[in-house]
Amino acid sequence: MPFRLIYSSEATPGLATADLEEMLAESRIRNRVCGITGVLVFVDGAFLQIIEGEKDDVLGLMERIERDPRHRSIKVFHEEEVDERAFASWNMAYLSPSTEEVARWVELEGGTTIGSVLSSVEREPGRLPGMVVNILKAIANP
Ligand SMILES: Cc1cc2nc3c(=O)[nH]c(=O)nc-3n(C[C@H](O)[C@H](O)[C@H](O)COP(=O)(O)O)c2cc1C
Repeated sequence: MPFRLIYSSEATPGLATADLEEMLAESRIRNRVCGITGVLVFVDGAFLQIIEGEKDDVLGLMERIERDPRHRSIKVFHEEEVDERAFASWNMAYLSPSTEEVARWVELEGGTTIGSVLSSVEREPGRLPGMVVNILKAIANP
């Protein structure tokens, strides 16, 4: 059964777009080899990542990601076995939406920061299934 993990983190200040692109390119190659799929969302200095794969592979990857100095304040807020992968077609899709768009994904109303949006999702996991659906829509209609 595939396993899905969702976490958020803060990008280390000074992380450049070129660093991010290089990290994404390397991740996609490694994920293809390891059978990992998912999405990386970068918004206003924060990361939100969904990782899917065999449980051992996902947890092994998460250990490496947690040691990575390119981000900090890592919060794993969801881990579950799933019937099927939601991101089966993407070794690591990438989105860079506005905070407002992320708030809409999780059905929160306006005028808020990405930190408060992510805290709400962490506190209220009931918002996650809708968020996954809305991320898939955003990938399909960039
Ligand atoms: C926000 C973020 C997301 C990452 N996502 C992945 C990923 O999906 N797959 C991956 O192999 N590495 C990812 N990495 C890189 C890993 O942290 C790590 O550098 C890489 O797996 C190599 O591991 P190693 O340095 O222990 O050899 C990510 C790093 C960051 C900062």
